[in-house]
Amino acid sequence: MPDTVMSQADRLRVIPLGGGFGARIEGLDRSVPADEATRAALMRAFLDHQLLVVPGAPMTPAQMRDFSAIFGEVVPQVLRYKRVGDMPEVSRMESTLKLDGTTDKTAIRAEDWHTDDSYMAIPARGTVLHAHEIPSRGGVTWFCDMYGVYAALPDAIKRRIDGRMAVHGYDTPRARNRPSPRTAQEIAETPDVLHPLVRTHPQTGRKALYVNANRLDRIEGMERAESDSLLDELYAFAKQPRFHHGHRWTVGDAVVWDNRCLMHRVDVDYPPGEPRIMLRTLLRGEKPA
Ligand code: SIN
Repeated sequence: MPDTVMSQADRLRVIPLGGGFGARIEGLDRSVPADEATRAALMRAFLDHQLLVVPGAPMTPAQMRDFSAIFGEVVPQVLRYKRVGDMPEVSRMESTLKLDGTTDKTAIRAEDWHTDDSYMAIPARGTVLHAHEIPSRGGVTWFCDMYGVYAALPDAIKRRIDGRMAVHGYDTPRARNRPSPRTAQEIAETPDVLHPLVRTHPQTGRKALYVNANRLDRIEGMERAESDSLLDELYAFAKQPRFHHGHRWTVGDAVVWDNRCLMHRVDVDYPPGEPRIMLRTLLRGEKPA
């Protein structure tokens, strides 16, 4: 018999994914509340690695909300129709390609690089996505390291964007597809907002490029043509695979990411008719600075 009992935190293993960011968490039982030391270790891993893959059995919406709360305050989701039952903090995200062609357009918008909630004055610090049903192939979710992108930008571009603000909105003609319609209440809750193009992470102090192909409309104080061409240049730079990591889902995976320094997108390349269903929560952030 061992003479000591291993604590939750002792069992935790943080295994870097190897591509410069991201880690896999092993040894966590998500069905029991995490103790203080475990919560602190997970928060440290989130800040150090930006992206955490936490495998386990599928969680109920309440378990999902409680697991997400390890990383911050879980906030109500704007789009009411996606909320799960009477739980405003958990959305059911269905990105199944329907055989009758009625697929939710927001699934297609997720094909382009974005960071969640940048159309809000206080965008989400992080997102938790949890796989309940996944197709037999495809549907990889990709992440882009925006610390790395900013650090690698040529100095001439850094000089053009440092200190600049950008207008983010619920929609922009620059995005390829239109988002889900909003109710009058949801429109009132989501006016256009200004955010810096380069933001400093409030906990790590590192700088990251803060852009969003789906929501960033223009750079403040620039003519539309100049703004469009600079944004296109920034997106092309961030598209380099050296900044990317792809997550291939297994049912039960929870993936936690930091929206302040990562963009993400999904490959909509899976077979039509095969369900792809996730639960999602968003974590309260702070005003980008
Ligand atoms: C998203 O872009 O928020 C969804 C990503 C995914 O469904 O994999």
